[in-house]
Amino acid sequence: MHAAYPALRLRRTRAAAWSRRLHAENVLTPADLIWPLFITEGHDVEEPIAALPGVSRWSVDRIVARAKEAAALGIPCLALFPNTQSGRRSDDGAEAINPDNLMCQALRAIKDAVPDIGLLTDVALDPYTTHGHDGLVDARGYVTNDSTVDALVQQALNQARNGSDVIAPSDMMDGRVGLIRSALEQEGFVNVQIMAYAAKYASAFYGPFRDAVGSRGLLKGDKTTYQMDPANAEEALREVGLDLAEGADSVMVKPGLPYLDIVAKVKQAFVVPVFAYQVSGEYAMIEAAVAAGAADRDAMVLETLLSFKRAGCSGVLTYHAPLAARLLGA
Ligand code: PBG
Repeated sequence: MHAAYPALRLRRTRAAAWSRRLHAENVLTPADLIWPLFITEGHDVEEPIAALPGVSRWSVDRIVARAKEAAALGIPCLALFPNTQSGRRSDDGAEAINPDNLMCQALRAIKDAVPDIGLLTDVALDPYTTHGHDGLVDARGYVTNDSTVDALVQQALNQARNGSDVIAPSDMMDGRVGLIRSALEQEGFVNVQIMAYAAKYASAFYGPFRDAVGSRGLLKGDKTTYQMDPANAEEALREVGLDLAEGADSVMVKPGLPYLDIVAKVKQAFVVPVFAYQVSGEYAMIEAAVAAGAADRDAMVLETLLSFKRAGCSGVLTYHAPLAARLLGA
């Protein structure tokens, strides 16, 4: 007899698979995933990205095939990023407002072929500028706020006119959500959403992404005058509060895993949809661990994605989206 043992044994509900399933507090499904895709010039082109093993840039025709794949897997939304050819980059990033830029071509082609998939578009000038910054740079190299916001409003309108469903400003300028919202309303885009990259940190985890959009070699300095200091959490709540007050429909925390505390705090402080971006450096870390024989990719991908749900996310942007959707048995 073990009379001294407590009546309550937490292992009891873990003893059988059916019971573990029954007691699961959180669940991950393909509907929780947003798949970021990189677009490149040309026809029938796939360019593997060395810094992101398993991820490629696709020409517009082949992006359409990825959209069909996503729809078949039950992935509800794609996030699009262009790798602008160098001749089209400039100091002021004017290619961002060209209605025939790579982004707009991809938006129209996907909307035409796969009308039911959501399309999220990044608002920031870095894929279009010769200095690699998200905004306009003055003579001292400082990214100016208000003139940048004017450009971002035009960029957002250009995306909405060509079929974007979700405008996602990733630039961290002050006041841009409110001005984008009112410009969208004025043009009648009342159902185009804004997912604000509200708490976006100046992070070492964006390196492979900058390779993917071709801005790494161009970037002068760093982004610490506009992206947040990794030391700060209260400031993230202020950023989220402002973006919501200005009309954001949902907010994002970025990067993902190193900032799960921020996700949990945001979810607790504001009862709104919160998303996280498991960024390029996080993807590269998992793939490097797998390549080194140190990890089981499938298990690690599903565990990290579930941790976002547990922290309070409605969904996650991840380059592992198609793999995860397949594993989840779509
Ligand atoms: C651009 C932007 C970045 C990412 C998304 N949008 C890079 C940056 O701010 O330098 C990073 C995404 C990733 O690393 O996967 N404003």
